[in-house]
Amino acid sequence: MKHNICVIGSGGREHAIAWKLLQSQHVDKVIMIPGNDILQNRDRIVNVKLDKLDGPLVANVCRQYNIELVFVGPEVPLCEGISDSLKKQGISCFGPSEKAAVIEGSKAFSKDFMVRHQIPTAKYKNFTDYLEACKYIENEVDYQMVIKASGVAAGKGVLIPQDKKEALEALKRIMVVKEFGSAGQEVVIEEFIEGEECSLMCFSDGHSLQVMPPAQDHKRIFDLDQGPNTGGMGAYAPAPFVIGHQGSPRGKHGFGALIDRAIETVLQPAIDGMRKEGRPFVGVLFAGLMISRQQQIKVLEFNCRMGDPETQVILPLLESDLYEVVCACVEGRLDSIPTLKWRQEYCVTIVAASKGYPDVYPKGLPIKGIEECNSVSGITVFQAGTSLASDMKTMNTSGGRVLAVTCIDKSLETAILSAYKSIQLIQFDGMQYRRDIGQKALNYLNSQEKVQSVSYSESGVDMERGDQVVDNIVPMAKSTNRLGCMADLGGFGALFDCKAAGFKDPILVSGTDGVGTKLKIAQELDIHGTIGIDLVAMCVNDVVVQGAEPLFFLDYFATGKIHVNVATQVISGIAKGCKESGCALIGGETAEMPGMYKDGEYDLAGFSVGAVERDKLLPLLNEFKEGDVLLGIASSGVHSNGYSLVRYLVEKKSGLKYTDKCPWDSSKTIGQSLLTPTKLYVLSCLAAIKAGGVRALAHITGGGITENLPRVFPNGYQAEIKFGSWTIPPVIQWLNSLGNMKQEELLRTFNCGIGMILVIDPTQLDTVKSILESHNETVYTIGRVTKSSNSNEKPKVVYI
Ligand SMILES: Nc1ncnc2c1ncn2[C@@H]1O[C@H](COP(=O)(O)OP(=O)(O)O)[C@@H](O)[C@H]1O
Ligand SMILES: [Mg+2]
Repeated sequence: MKHNICVIGSGGREHAIAWKLLQSQHVDKVIMIPGNDILQNRDRIVNVKLDKLDGPLVANVCRQYNIELVFVGPEVPLCEGISDSLKKQGISCFGPSEKAAVIEGSKAFSKDFMVRHQIPTAKYKNFTDYLEACKYIENEVDYQMVIKASGVAAGKGVLIPQDKKEALEALKRIMVVKEFGSAGQEVVIEEFIEGEECSLMCFSDGHSLQVMPPAQDHKRIFDLDQGPNTGGMGAYAPAPFVIGHQGSPRGKHGFGALIDRAIETVLQPAIDGMRKEGRPFVGVLFAGLMISRQQQIKVLEFNCRMGDPETQVILPLLESDLYEVVCACVEGRLDSIPTLKWRQEYCVTIVAASKGYPDVYPKGLPIKGIEECNSVSGITVFQAGTSLASDMKTMNTSGGRVLAVTCIDKSLETAILSAYKSIQLIQFDGMQYRRDIGQKALNYLNSQEKVQSVSYSESGVDMERGDQVVDNIVPMAKSTNRLGCMADLGGFGALFDCKAAGFKDPILVSGTDGVGTKLKIAQELDIHGTIGIDLVAMCVNDVVVQGAEPLFFLDYFATGKIHVNVATQVISGIAKGCKESGCALIGGETAEMPGMYKDGEYDLAGFSVGAVERDKLLPLLNEFKEGDVLLGIASSGVHSNGYSLVRYLVEKKSGLKYTDKCPWDSSKTIGQSLLTPTKLYVLSCLAAIKAGGVRALAHITGGGITENLPRVFPNGYQAEIKFGSWTIPPVIQWLNSLGNMKQEELLRTFNCGIGMILVIDPTQLDTVKSILESHNETVYTIGRVTKSSNSNEKPKVVYI
């Protein structure tokens, strides 16, 4: 059978209570007294207005709607005894009796109560006599003070003076000027304590209790806790500085060791103490805690009801049925129901307030965007100081705290972001809200991340993934073993034995390089298997130019996040490149650097060390002769240079995508063609060198033939190159057509189809040519060596 239930109140807290009760399978209608007219008849809510909030009148409403249970939202009716008078009328009330509500109604009582039950709190003294209080401040106080009106003052009766003079003024405002009315008949002067505030609430039936997640309110009106106190400008739960990270140990009560301790030293002693003093507390007990850096807990105050806006972030986290909990409390059997279940998520609420709040503020201003905001997934707008205009459609402001935008999400950060994004959909004149709700918690979480950086994986660096990559690499690296290799991967330094490799008087030759922005295309197309060949080729082709045999290679792979698959493919390309050039992959580094690179991005670099017998070092500058032949070996395409230009031409000029078919080869996409790996010239060139007659080699990289060939020429000699004596690969022709480049510029930018040039003795031409061809190279005689008119003239290329 379904039940109707009555909720007393009209604010954001009461909206959240009704909203949660309506999710119960036991609840039919929620009757709100007086409620908010915007909610009238929405979601099974019925508002009833009474001339006066008293027991008999509320009981009448209950009889009319067949209600047996009343949930009281705010403290004032509780302190005035509504619970007792309802009970007299035979209606159950969730909310303490007048005698129990005094725990909030009188701060003086509450402080004395804490002392009686050894509940930790700041030291203090209560006064009903103004002059005695003055004397105490003047003569006895030796601590920074907080001066509190003892009675209920809507969160405004607490003053924090900076010195004794201000303290005396504060005392005067409360006790003489009576700014807070009768709430100021008695004052509490207590010691100011430092720390983080936490709102800890529990349901209680007078004996046992069930705790709620710790929340944090934002009391002051302005960002960074500036300006006067308010009823609360926003809240979030659970508070990480209390319960730690989501993965932290849960303790006995589900929210960690600190909450366990707060239950043992504060909540349970309070519930027991109230019962022992003949004031059993049934309802929600709210402890305002101050938690010091050393995790010491002190109670600032008790409240006898749920917090506002804490309720708006706590109830969305409650998975259990609120109606069942409330019934168990009023029936004195809270220990008969299972431990409450809470979502493992974060909830945040931002209060939008009227201009001028917490002082005077206008009312009746139209509000736009509430429905749009409410319809965002994860967002609930709780109505507080809102009302319907006379047209029964327009929503108007009618209070200081107008509404609360609440968001629940997996992480605190995303919940905060989404709440702030959504609140912007709402508009009313002078709307103000704090921009830093939850910021302290985010800062805390971030600082914890830094502290915990020993647990490397939390920072985004996953050692396990790294290890897995290494496991995958080991067999590939092993397959590149060659004479001279001394150890497996994993040592600190990688070793190589030149003697064992057959060298007698070696000169070591090394080269380092990266792949440049060709990587961008690989990453965009998710093709990672050949880019490692480019890397090796860029290094070993340089080494072989000196006549050296590349012996070993080490790579450096850096990425935002290691994807085992991608890293393994990249490194398998490196291993392949090494194998095809006879050099061993003897070491490397896989670096995961979140923040430096984005997830999905990586950079690749490496270097090779080779050796050549001292007397075989190239180029043989002294042997250059006029008429020496320039033999060009075909490239495989663009190789690994000029890709910033290539990408510009394709992306900005071609009107095509990398995934479109090649205009020159329908069997491939443009991207596939552009990823053709750089050719490895090592084995063919070493064989050619061995045959004799090779004076020099030039690796044609960035700068093209024009800039690279002269690097190996002696002064006084020139390269005369017959343009057109070889075929320009279609990919380069296509790029040229996009860029409309001059021939001169083209030859300076791309290899134009020649990846390596050998300078050879003409008598050896046929031999060398046939050796290269037997290594599957395509070779062209592209020109000859000529003498400059001046023997000191710098070498250059002349195209004919
Ligand atoms: N002893 C204290 N030391 C430091 N700050 C205090 C102390 N007592 C109160 N405060 C500050 O004043 C606020 C209001 O005090 P509180 O006792 O919670 O009264 P109320 O909520 O009834 O206004 C607290 O939330 C806290 O920020
Ligand atoms: Mg308070």
